[in-house]
Amino acid sequence: MPNYEKDTATATVSPDRPSAVKNDGHPVGHEFVRFVPLDRALHATMVVSFLSLALTGMSLKFSYTPWARALSRLLGGFETAGYIHRFAAVIMFCVFVTHLVSLRNLKNRKYKSWLKMILGPNSMLPGAKDGREFIQTMKWFLGKGPRPQYGRWTYWEKFDYFAVFWGIFIIGSTGLTLWFPITFTRILPGWFINLATIIHSDEALLATGFIFTVHFFNTHLRPEKFPMDVVVFTGQMPLAELKRDKPMEYAALVQSGELKSRMVEPHPAVVVKMIRAFAWVALSIGFSIVIGIIYAMIFAYR
Ligand code: HEM
Repeated sequence: MPNYEKDTATATVSPDRPSAVKNDGHPVGHEFVRFVPLDRALHATMVVSFLSLALTGMSLKFSYTPWARALSRLLGGFETAGYIHRFAAVIMFCVFVTHLVSLRNLKNRKYKSWLKMILGPNSMLPGAKDGREFIQTMKWFLGKGPRPQYGRWTYWEKFDYFAVFWGIFIIGSTGLTLWFPITFTRILPGWFINLATIIHSDEALLATGFIFTVHFFNTHLRPEKFPMDVVVFTGQMPLAELKRDKPMEYAALVQSGELKSRMVEPHPAVVVKMIRAFAWVALSIGFSIVIGIIYAMIFAYR
């Protein structure tokens, strides 16, 4: 019987102890599966489409700055950037619809009813527990309490998840209005196109600013993860990290006996290297966009 009480966060492999007792009785090196392949593929595709939308969109928005003109030339000119923007938007809509279909499939397979899924312990829907964990986290930041016993999803992960929903709704609907103005003005007044431009542009700035600062910091730059966390691409994390980051989820998995079936061999080193290279490129593009926005705001604001 594995010793789940023992803290393996600091356990190391030593030659005088059988390796099978390390890693909570799972073979040393085996990792916990946090994301299924579909979610990993969807997140990677969303990253590519969002970066393309942000790069092309910001090159239009800040077209009066030297960096935006240089970027646009690199992308083949402002007109081509517009086409890339529309193509990336279609990809983003496809990712979103695929995710909704996968939620329906998960409901049918595992929960049988939407209510059970939404009110279950692994739900993405924020609840009273998230409110409590938020307060506990603030206390922890101030050194006035222990780190909260987070479960499958933390309150900030739930916030980021729903930010995509309202982002898609607001940016997507106004983007479609800008793409098909004649169709939309058959039912809406003409001034709505001006309004849609302002909403699209400002909400895009908000989304870009939020994702490339707050989301990047929470996910990649905080001390436990620095310089990056690639679990959403690899799908796997060391068991010690699960125990440290999500102790409630770990305890529930042990109690239900599900943990064993979620432990797998790590990916080959070359795969992890490629994933990290992709993440480095994505993080660098994101931070560069933030620097470009700050430059435009301070030195070239119009
Ligand atoms: C997801 C669906 C989206 C659609 C359908 C869409 C569509 C459009 C269209 C048609 C334009 C006008 C471009 C032109 O005339 O060449 C535009 C502009 C723009 N888009 Fe999007 N877009 C979407 C998402 C995004 C996202 C996610 C961002 C940023 C993260 C973004 C940022 C921008 C910006 C900054 C502009 C320039 C607005 C301005 O002139 O101030 N868009 N978009």
